[in-house]
Amino acid sequence: MSILKIARMGHPVLRQMAKPIPNPKTEAIRNLAFDMLDTMVDIDGAGLAAPQVHESVRLMLFFVPGSDLSTAGMPAEGLNALCNPEITPLSQEMEEGWEGCLSVPGLRGVVPRYCHIKYSGYDLEGNYIEREAEGFHARVVQHEYDHLDGILYPQRMKDLSLFSFVEELKHGVPEGAPDLAIKSA
Ligand code: NI
Repeated sequence: MSILKIARMGHPVLRQMAKPIPNPKTEAIRNLAFDMLDTMVDIDGAGLAAPQVHESVRLMLFFVPGSDLSTAGMPAEGLNALCNPEITPLSQEMEEGWEGCLSVPGLRGVVPRYCHIKYSGYDLEGNYIEREAEGFHARVVQHEYDHLDGILYPQRMKDLSLFSFVEELKHGVPEGAPDLAIKSA
């Protein structure tokens, strides 16, 4: 078990296009995924992508609270590890929601994301996974996927007046903004 150092906005690894993983079943990928899991749990995150721990490969973890969706070998319900993911929006409809990012600590922003997506990828046993997702599930998958393409959530924001220090939001969220209720990812 290792807690890994998290790269913060500005580090070049967060701007790179991460490389596909030739074989999701190797011990190296499994060890990376479990170190990422320890890191995510330690910092109470909702998701983590490999570039955030300075590994430029297409592996992402995410947690869907209250769901029984998990991938093979993950130690708890709701925990998912996915290699080489792909995303397809199932409608053009988008919704706005607050996001935080472990690589952009202390801040939150309102980000539009597709409401309804299909995503696929490979778990750590090499099984092909294909699912539909909506709501928070769809949002966290899109957030983590963006990390693999070198994109951080502030680059997706349409209104930078909704970019805030999380501690200041306790005084109230901007008028018209969605309710604040999200972990970082
Ligand atoms: Ni993030």
